[in-house]
Amino acid sequence: MTGTRLLMTFPVSATSHTLADYQARGGYATLAKVLREMRPDQVTKEVAASGILGHGGAAFPAGRKWGVIRLNDGQPHYLCANADEGEPGTFKDRWILENAPHLLLESMLIAAFALQVNHAFVYIRGEFDLPYRRLAAAVEEAYAAGYLGEHILGSELACDLVVYRGAGSYVCGEASALITSIEGKKGYPRNRPPRLTVRGLYQRPTVINNVETLAHITGIVAHGAAAFRRVGTAKSPGTQLVSISGHVQKPGVYEVEYGYPLAKFLYEDCGGALPGGSSGGIKCIVPGGISTKVLTAAEIEGLTYDHASLSAAGSGVGSGGMVVIAEGTCMVRLLQVLLRFYHHESCGQCTPCREGMGWMHRIIDRIVAGDGRPGDLEQLIRISDANDGTTICGMGDAAGYATVGILAKYRDEFDYFIAHKRSRFEGRLEVSGAATATHSATESASTSATGLTGIAA
Ligand SMILES: Cc1cc2nc3c(=O)[nH]c(=O)nc-3n(C[C@H](O)[C@H](O)[C@H](O)COP(=O)(O)O)c2cc1C
Ligand code: SF4
Repeated sequence: MTGTRLLMTFPVSATSHTLADYQARGGYATLAKVLREMRPDQVTKEVAASGILGHGGAAFPAGRKWGVIRLNDGQPHYLCANADEGEPGTFKDRWILENAPHLLLESMLIAAFALQVNHAFVYIRGEFDLPYRRLAAAVEEAYAAGYLGEHILGSELACDLVVYRGAGSYVCGEASALITSIEGKKGYPRNRPPRLTVRGLYQRPTVINNVETLAHITGIVAHGAAAFRRVGTAKSPGTQLVSISGHVQKPGVYEVEYGYPLAKFLYEDCGGALPGGSSGGIKCIVPGGISTKVLTAAEIEGLTYDHASLSAAGSGVGSGGMVVIAEGTCMVRLLQVLLRFYHHESCGQCTPCREGMGWMHRIIDRIVAGDGRPGDLEQLIRISDANDGTTICGMGDAAGYATVGILAKYRDEFDYFIAHKRSRFEGRLEVSGAATATHSATESASTSATGLTGIAA
């Protein structure tokens, strides 16, 4: 048990995603209450008071984002749920889409009421099959039951919802690229300002929130901001769905209360590293998607799982996608996998990202091929620094953070590789059993786990 649960509160079964099961759990009662008893600004106030931070990676307070939307400004407003979930190692929104799609829809309708939105979108990654089918079926059920469309539950609220499938581009998870993609254009991120809450989809004020952020709205409004704040820590209220994969005994999706001891989560709840590493232990973790800096086993001790604790350790909660790396793993090969990914996914608009990713990828490929040169590591750091803050979206920075983070802690492995033209660990990324292990964090939850083996060459 990883603390109080706010989302994984029901046993997952073959029908728990359906409207009938959701209604039996009290589903859509909060929407009815909101429509009956609340004003839009009261809903936004409650969300702001809850202190909920965005779960998409940047941890921006949702209430502050919603508060920018000016009601009665005569403009159409739009709401988009970000279900792109492209960050490697992250598969927690998938749990909501597969198992609680009506919770997302009810929450989006409450948000639509608060933000005066008549057209809402869910942007879902193209590779998602079951999550898409479950969500599309839920939307159909919601229309048939009168939760979507005109005069929702006999009120003045009218809201249509479109599920928009992406085409498998990592950068389309970035909020402005996502909007551009919905508009039917190439998914390029846009420069800010203007903020998307001022000029977003179709040049109109738009709120984009991560699926998990939105999924919490029903609970916050149903039980009140004070109840939400009683869970977690003062600065990180609530919980986080953590998808954990890689060289770990029990991969899966877990709901973790902020403030929970990180070592307890890794070693007790998730069972520690898979057997097969040279010393059988955890070497390091990527705590929140590959853009967050690695934390060594020694650093993990004493940390709690929340924004303040992880950022004090130089890393972050990020996207909630945790990857465990066992002792015996070659960090040079690991960085090669990451840089290949970033190079492949750069959209090419910004010179530091477009060229920098290519340079970094070629340097690490050369090192792994046994042709590393003196100065290569300094060059990697220089390119990372040059990307920091000079690109349109956060991807340019992210590749640099990952690189600098790994080099700062495992420089000796890179020096060894360059000097000996081979890995200290024979270039091994895999630990036996990583590809086959699966674990469900809730009794019968079916979650798929991606491991390092999934991205290894
Ligand atoms: C390259 C890149 C990819 C991103 N991918 C996602 C994603 O897959 N899902 C997501 O929710 N946010 C993603 N984000 C963050 C979004 O831009 C945005 O901050 C988030 O959807 C806002 O929701 P939140 O405030 O609820 O966290 C990405 C950002 C960048 C720079
Ligand atoms: S940082 Fe990279 S991915 Fe982001 S807009 Fe620039 S080139 Fe595209």
